[in-house]
Amino acid sequence: MSDQRKGPEADPVTHFGYQSVPESQKAQKVAEVFHSVAAKYDLMNDLMSAGVHRLWKRFTIELSGVRSGNRVLDIAGGTGDLTKQFSRLVGPRGEVVLADINDSMLKVGRDRLMDEGIANNVSFVQADAEKLPFPDNHFDCVTIAFGLRNVTHKEAAIASMLRVLKPGGRLLVLEFSKPTSQLLSKAYDAYSFSLLPFMGKLIANDSASYRYLAESIRMHPDQDTLKAMMETTGFGRVTYHNMTGGIVALHRGIKP
Ligand SMILES: C[S@@+](CC[C@H](N)C(=O)[O-])C[C@H]1O[C@@H](n2cnc3c(N)ncnc32)[C@H](O)[C@@H]1O
Repeated sequence: MSDQRKGPEADPVTHFGYQSVPESQKAQKVAEVFHSVAAKYDLMNDLMSAGVHRLWKRFTIELSGVRSGNRVLDIAGGTGDLTKQFSRLVGPRGEVVLADINDSMLKVGRDRLMDEGIANNVSFVQADAEKLPFPDNHFDCVTIAFGLRNVTHKEAAIASMLRVLKPGGRLLVLEFSKPTSQLLSKAYDAYSFSLLPFMGKLIANDSASYRYLAESIRMHPDQDTLKAMMETTGFGRVTYHNMTGGIVALHRGIKP
């Protein structure tokens, strides 16, 4: 169920959007995207989704079951939308770790949460989802929102998230997925490949990063493939919920 293909010269090849690149180059290319968009990330999210990403994230919080005193990891947490809500839910006895591989995104997130007076029970860690620097059986809940798509070795990341969860802990993967209707799919393609890069150029002066966004969504495993990946890695009771006609899906798995 790997998204990697082996090149003939034993140097694995993976995808970066629609391009084929050596695995060793993907993380750097993804890093360039997020360094470039970090400052305008929140504004672009609201514009691109007409604010609907807030509803997708609200549903994620609802399904997380996080409560007072819990320890939560928000990996690929970026500018901290989920972390902000978790910080409130876990309260002073709990703890939230906002982790991201990209220091530009992490800095925007940290500044934002500090400005909003939210960071008391939050720590900020630069980390790769594939090699999480946390002990085994540590977190009650791990979330990765719109992050897994960018990770080079998705199975390694899912295994790493499984390792740091306590038994009974929940993983929530919020990610773009496959629209359930052909009509919606066509309209969504038209939007993604014309309007999105145009808006990226206008707002963030970067159309290429938003073209990557559209392409990376198409290359990401669909709902059932991701569910199977989570099950193969060792998660139990894996379910998913389509939102906005499958444009986005929320997968949840429990560590046995
Ligand atoms: C689209 S943003 C999502 C940010 C936030 N979770 C949200 O929903 O608004 C994707 C984030 O994934 C991060 N990321 C990409 N690859 C990663 C990896 N291997 N490990 C951790 N974070 C990664 C990027 O730096 C970026 O901040």
